Amino acid sequence: MNTAAIAKVISGTAIVCALMCSCMKGSGLPGIVPLPGSVVAEKGEFVLLGESDIYIASDAEGMEYAADELKTVLSGICGVAVLESDDPGASVVLGLSDELGESSYLLDISPDRIKITGGDPAGVFYAVQTLKQLVPAQAYNGKAGRVSIPAVVINDSPKMMYRGVMLDAARHFFTKDEVKKFLDIMALHKMNVFHWHLTDDQGWRIEIDSYPELVGTGSVRKRTIVGKDPGGEYDETTVYDETPHSGYYTKDDIREIVEYARRRFITVIPEVEFPGHAVAALASYPWLGCTGEQYEVRQTWDIDDRVFCIGKESTFRFFEDVLAEVTDLFPSEYIHIGGDECPSKMWEKCPHCNRRMEQEHLDSYRQLQAYGTFRLEKFLESRGRRIIGWDEILEAGISPSAVVMSWRGTEGGIKAAKSGNYVVMSPTGYSYFDYYQTRNTENEPLAWGGYLPLEKVYSFDPYEGLDADDKKFVLGVQANLWTEYIPDFRQAEYMLLPRLAAMSEVAWSSASGNYPDFRARLADFLELYRSFGYTFSETALRE
Ligand code: ACM
Ligand code: ZN
Repeated sequence: MNTAAIAKVISGTAIVCALMCSCMKGSGLPGIVPLPGSVVAEKGEFVLLGESDIYIASDAEGMEYAADELKTVLSGICGVAVLESDDPGASVVLGLSDELGESSYLLDISPDRIKITGGDPAGVFYAVQTLKQLVPAQAYNGKAGRVSIPAVVINDSPKMMYRGVMLDAARHFFTKDEVKKFLDIMALHKMNVFHWHLTDDQGWRIEIDSYPELVGTGSVRKRTIVGKDPGGEYDETTVYDETPHSGYYTKDDIREIVEYARRRFITVIPEVEFPGHAVAALASYPWLGCTGEQYEVRQTWDIDDRVFCIGKESTFRFFEDVLAEVTDLFPSEYIHIGGDECPSKMWEKCPHCNRRMEQEHLDSYRQLQAYGTFRLEKFLESRGRRIIGWDEILEAGISPSAVVMSWRGTEGGIKAAKSGNYVVMSPTGYSYFDYYQTRNTENEPLAWGGYLPLEKVYSFDPYEGLDADDKKFVLGVQANLWTEYIPDFRQAEYMLLPRLAAMSEVAWSSASGNYPDFRARLADFLELYRSFGYTFSETALRE
């Protein structure tokens, strides 16, 4: 089938909105975030008229998702009715070129037409994200009459291929629609990996058919600590809200979200924690723990001693069953197996764990953890997957194919990269978006603690401490949104934005921006947040 035969033209009618281009400044172009590789302003402007039409000059898999995104942008402006036709002379043309790299694009806007060329459909999709920012923000809230887009040629490609954001849905549950909104926000920032933290001490959020109590029992927390825990769990001064918190994703929910992400060129990496952060699972199936005691789903935060027993074979049967269902749901190359913050207190007293150590000639409890991790890795390998884990997995050695997510600083990532393992840099000091965005915390929503202002995120150099040979092992960077103190989605957006804009530039932009230049461009981007109804932190901007 030739391209002309499969080409579709989408005719827009009635794209007539009034508009004063107040966002234009200097070069006449709105600021774009993340900063593109090159932006050359041209003369004139493209005016969206009723007869605008779109020609899709490729039937490559995924092109329709990029085209859908463009249709959504146009209909978001003025409710454009979309028709299909096959006119290559259309005023908006989407195509591919072998001369452009992965996820790269050329966006060429002249007074006559908009031409988008991608190295692949993802590149076309990212061009549409950039185009969104060239359309004056007022056009999205219907307060415009004549919509014009400045003539410009933009050549752009990503610096890093892993541009991640983690959402902790275990400490607080977010609905399917909220997760979709999270993905929309990611897409706008050209982020492409959604790390979904689905299990923890305080909640198990993924339906597993072979173990129904994981959500039956494990997704319900009787109550939640209010404020900070003054003296640790069971301290009599601890105050709880006494309201149960619950929620989980059905398999259909997950399939829908994975597909929603795929259409936005976002890979979903699920995280199932092993061997720590296990209390919700142990509350569901007490035999998963060392003592077999019945626990409650945890109601306070921080690290818990109650972890999976690595001595009993039944723990591995459980994980193989769970991971079989997880890999059926998630097509990602990587599966995150957690690995962080796992105390050995229960293992030390456990006859099963001690027997395992003797039989396997393991000298330390970290080696016991590594033994368990290795077994999960082997199982996942048999299903064609690789593991990714928090940097604790490094402590007793990892296999060459394991990916390290460096969170306790970048040291773990540097060590892993130097030994030839791929890494994702996600250090607390630059990537923990549960930290406060300001030092003036009195009027801020309660947060975990810490201080991570916008400028610090922007200053993140994920390659620091690595020489040229090692840099290639850095897959990318990730922002983490832990939700102990984020009870609702509005607050999640508040903690995420605008810091995600800074992280997107760390992840995407090879061209050197500087912070004042970023802030000037961000001012325009914030107009888009306002138009799309996204909550963001104003205090972050005053730091
Ligand atoms: C972590 O923050 N415990 C990975
Ligand atoms: Zn044990």
